[in-house]
Amino acid sequence: MQKIIILDFGSQTTQLIGRRVRELDTFCEILPYNKFPDDDPDVIGVILSGSPYSVYDPQAFSVDLSRLRRRYPILGICYGAQFMAHTLGGRVEPAPSREYGRQNLTTIDTANPLFRGFDTGSQVWMSHGDTITALPDGFKVIASTASVANAAYQAEGEQLWGVQFHPEVFHSTQGTQLLRNFVVDICGSRQDWSAANFVETTVAELRRQLGNDRVILGLSGGVDSSVAAVLISRAIGDRLTCIFVDHGMLRKNEFADVLHDYECLGLNVVGVDASAKFFADLAGVTDPEQKRKIIGRDFVEVFNAEARKVEGARWLAQGTIYPDRIESLNITGKVIKSHHNVGGLPKEMNLQLCEPLKWLFKDEVRRIGRQLGMPEHLITRHPFPGPGLAVRILGDITPEKVRILQEADDIFIRGLRDYKVRLCGDDARRVLAAGVPAAMTDGEIEVSLYDQIWQAGAVLLSTVRSVGVMGDERTYEHPVALRAVTSTDAMTADWAHLPYDFMARVSTDIINHVRGVNRVCYDISSKPPATIEWE
Ligand code: XMP
Repeated sequence: MQKIIILDFGSQTTQLIGRRVRELDTFCEILPYNKFPDDDPDVIGVILSGSPYSVYDPQAFSVDLSRLRRRYPILGICYGAQFMAHTLGGRVEPAPSREYGRQNLTTIDTANPLFRGFDTGSQVWMSHGDTITALPDGFKVIASTASVANAAYQAEGEQLWGVQFHPEVFHSTQGTQLLRNFVVDICGSRQDWSAANFVETTVAELRRQLGNDRVILGLSGGVDSSVAAVLISRAIGDRLTCIFVDHGMLRKNEFADVLHDYECLGLNVVGVDASAKFFADLAGVTDPEQKRKIIGRDFVEVFNAEARKVEGARWLAQGTIYPDRIESLNITGKVIKSHHNVGGLPKEMNLQLCEPLKWLFKDEVRRIGRQLGMPEHLITRHPFPGPGLAVRILGDITPEKVRILQEADDIFIRGLRDYKVRLCGDDARRVLAAGVPAAMTDGEIEVSLYDQIWQAGAVLLSTVRSVGVMGDERTYEHPVALRAVTSTDAMTADWAHLPYDFMARVSTDIINHVRGVNRVCYDISSKPPATIEWE
């Protein structure tokens, strides 16, 4: 299969470049800057990403361009462009002021294949502290903005381009056109990476790989494991056994609702209610890491006990997706929280791993789900942490606290689903780019608040009490914090700017209906420095 290689220099938008290339129905791989595969005959082009470093930083990443030049078409983005200009004899200097935000391309060489179809004045997004002040010999400028003379360049007579702006972000209004020009016209992609094609080839491949073997899969209710399960069951039917563990800290009614959805999808599912064990083992535990460790350990225990009952199982299937595996350049190298998914299975079971979604981004997984005819509410479901509401209750966990939080969370989430907003311009394009199915009428789309945000939930501040008054009674109860964030990958997130009338309604509903809560706050912290979950 043809592929574009994206060499990662550590930018936060590298994965976004990958997703944009995939949206052009073209397969791509993101590799660390120093892991270019010299002998892969399927490579049709190379993109060099941005970086948090300046080309002058002693620790700046570099690549030997002689391995790429004149072998493949190359596109450098931001640092990628500056790195090539700097290395090949041009000059890169600190910009007089940081070049950041929206700018317009005032001059564009629209005869250049990279800018075919571009409009003069096209908006682009810049984000860099250095700028290219002189191009190497034999390079020509092909676009400029009012303040950035060398906004884009090409090496004459060579398939090598650089752009100092970010075509992958949606603020660059013709960024997709630029990437299409590069990937399709210049690199010659046949654009044969599509959802229908993926389902057909993956089901055939799974049949071949799994033969008559039995497979076990842990379902979480989330989109990744659900899509993996449906895909595998298409290939081998009832020889797939899915295990769905209720640790007692799922959302309100989630265990029953999701189990019902799975049964309707024809999956062979075993639902295990292990909540009593989890509550017993968590009793009195208040430390967040300790809670996570106990839940992770108990989960493995319960899952393994169930898995052992599946006679003759040869494979463990997982909904691992591409971002889980990308060997990203973690500049800080620090682990912030330990995340638990299905842990190690007993060695004596001797299972092999089957990960049919391992090359997909989240939005592609959703597209595959739609292709498989799965219900929309399963596909657009927000991410939910493995340890569930346990990391959204401060202090120790009791079934009563979980019940209170489930009620408040349910009011919040139902409210987000019911509240519709009309969006246009950049806002509409951002939501559509994230794969939300909404029809554009007169330049506007209508979506729910739920579909506009990455993730939301309520947090019970059960270590805090505050005074309130209800009727003639004094109350002394717990606050609930609401959290809703926008994000593309959960690595960074911003708090969602929810409408005041919506917040007012949700707050009243929670305080009036959830006994034990007398105050509602809204969390307005971004990540970093906060994280999405409170624990
Ligand atoms: P943080 O809180 O680190 O969360 O900003 C980032 C994303 O990861 C989810 N999350 C988890 N997912 N097991 C999971 O499967 C976990 O232990 C876990 N902890 C956090 C979180 O909901 C957010 O989407």
